[in-house]
Amino acid sequence: MSKQIVVSGIRPTGNLHLGNYFGAVRSFLKMQEDYNCYFFIADIHSLTTHPTPGDLQSGVKQVLAEYLACGIDPEKATIFIQSDVTEVVELYTFLNMNAYLGELERTTSFKDKARSNPENVNAGLLTYPVLMAADIIIHKAEYVPVGKDQEQNLEMARKFAGRFNRMYNCELFPIPQPFTFDGGDMIKIPGLDGSGKMGKSEGNGIFLYEDPKEIRKKVMRAVTDAGPTEPNSKKAEPVENLFKLLKIMSQPDVVAHFDAAYNDCSIRYGDLKNQLAEDIVTFTSPIRERILEILKDDVYLGKVARMGAEKARESAQATLKEVKALIGFKRLF
Ligand code: TRP
Repeated sequence: MSKQIVVSGIRPTGNLHLGNYFGAVRSFLKMQEDYNCYFFIADIHSLTTHPTPGDLQSGVKQVLAEYLACGIDPEKATIFIQSDVTEVVELYTFLNMNAYLGELERTTSFKDKARSNPENVNAGLLTYPVLMAADIIIHKAEYVPVGKDQEQNLEMARKFAGRFNRMYNCELFPIPQPFTFDGGDMIKIPGLDGSGKMGKSEGNGIFLYEDPKEIRKKVMRAVTDAGPTEPNSKKAEPVENLFKLLKIMSQPDVVAHFDAAYNDCSIRYGDLKNQLAEDIVTFTSPIRERILEILKDDVYLGKVARMGAEKARESAQATLKEVKALIGFKRLF
């Protein structure tokens, strides 16, 4: 039986932090084993914010290198750069003819961006969900791994896929489903500033490319409290977060040791932070080294991008041919 198809796009902005790793990246690593995955860097989408050519290129290169360093395998998954597969722009144009101003204006991400950047409410921003739908359905994806922020965009993709099928009385496009792992496999990484979540916009990220010195500094600065004064007291959120991180990054006996120290009030947060910093560094160091190695290797990066583009184009061209025939783009004269 052929594998089910998964499509996911990655914005070429920002570097991967631990939160990304234990969220999206780890899911991708599992998915590439069992599904026919198309992972791409959404560089066309990123034009809505008008990057300079230099920033665009370095963003794409960095993201590609980081995902490869984490273990995304170009032999298993099709990893490509969106702008290398221009077929998607053609499908986007066709889908735009049946995407309505009202529904596009109503999407939350459009309203948010229009509100925060009123000087740059461009048509690309408005039709962002249409391009995203084209990305997904051009490979006839059955699944799309999505976080909360992308649920509505996926809903739009489902709508546009169904609308095309109905309009041309066909079943060309599967209706893509959100991909979720059984058993709630996603691990949410807390922030070190006492907040619930590690994120780029939260400014509390520990990045995979960061050197050990910087990581140690960040961990040592993590917010704590004055320490427990009564045995077995409940941990306040910042301390609870440190323990959560420790559970993810460290061995069970290490966690048990600090838990016991907390419970009998002998804990010194400095010791806990030292240990946590070392365990994070142990985890990130090999990834960091691979990132730096891959970034130096343009030949390898070029090979990966070309190979991915070739596989993705083959799939995109096949779909587009069917789309055009259905629309009526065939010469009768
Ligand atoms: N909109 C997604 C994001 O901001 C990126 C993206 C573009 C995407 N095209 C996609 C995600 C197709 C999944 C499928 O993260």
